[in-house]
Amino acid sequence: MVSSYEKPKKAQIVYFSGTGGTKMAASALGAALAGREITCELFSLNGKSSFVAESGALLIVMFPVYAFNAPVMIDDFIDALPFSADGVAAVIAVSGGGEVFPNTASRCRTVGHLRKKGFQTVYEAGLVMPSNLIMDYPEVISLSLLHILPEKTERIAADLNSQTVRRMKIHVFDRCLAFLGALEKCGSSSFGKKMKVSGACKSCGLCAAKCPRGNIALENGRPVFKDRCIMCLGCIYRCPQKALTPGILKFFVFDDGYDLKPLEKKLLERAWQRPKEEELKALTKGYLMSGVRKYLLEK
Ligand SMILES: Cc1cc2nc3c(=O)[nH]c(=O)nc-3n(C[C@H](O)[C@H](O)[C@H](O)COP(=O)(O)O)c2cc1C
Repeated sequence: MVSSYEKPKKAQIVYFSGTGGTKMAASALGAALAGREITCELFSLNGKSSFVAESGALLIVMFPVYAFNAPVMIDDFIDALPFSADGVAAVIAVSGGGEVFPNTASRCRTVGHLRKKGFQTVYEAGLVMPSNLIMDYPEVISLSLLHILPEKTERIAADLNSQTVRRMKIHVFDRCLAFLGALEKCGSSSFGKKMKVSGACKSCGLCAAKCPRGNIALENGRPVFKDRCIMCLGCIYRCPQKALTPGILKFFVFDDGYDLKPLEKKLLERAWQRPKEEELKALTKGYLMSGVRKYLLEK
């Protein structure tokens, strides 16, 4: 394991984001690094921009946690990286549930994969954004998560600037669960293929244009799903007509949709008062919210 690294002059942040949370986190980290005079480039794996790893730059890989793992977009990205004899990387997972079991091993496969390409991971961190799956958080919790994001990314930028090495020791049991979670990738293509398109569809083509996998085609004005879905939920939540609904795992998706923009606007419009500790504790009771509680309350 690497015990030191040079102060980064440049960082290349490579991220994938299904519904905007990781994109927001990557932008916040980019701004925090720029504030420390670390030149920063952002590469989205959602589009077609081609990435060239720059020698001497710190590679920062950011992704939303999917079933305690990185999404396949990250695997594909690392597969395509050329071998680097002296690559240095940071891996940042963005989850809905936070740094508690079973999310704790979510970076392991990515760290190992990068190692095979010559990149030593010197820094690991987890950020939390409002969950887009199964558990719709109370608005005050979602706003608190957005509000605390600059503080969290400032801390990461300060650590990287001061060459802090931060690697997690992950219990073998957590690793096993993450390994099992990776099987989710096999099921996600069925999720896409079984998607239902209602009569509300206006054939605008937004779902097809924005699908990060190029998995949706318009045939006779109707979206048709192929077998490359990764279940990022972007098409469902982005559809202006709410015309897409899952044919399976319906409970995964929020009926009222998921959109971080109105929350961002709310934060900007009014002077946001962070809720008192007691209120946050009351709203994050139970194990499922324990990672969010820890994240919002840690000093
Ligand atoms: C298919 C799928 C699986 C997910 N699995 C997990 C998980 O294992 N743990 C977790 O905390 N959050 C999980 N989430 C929630 C996302 O990690 C979280 O909402 C994240 O902020 C989404 O980022 P994005 O908006 O950039 O896509 C999952 C979301 C999806 C769509």
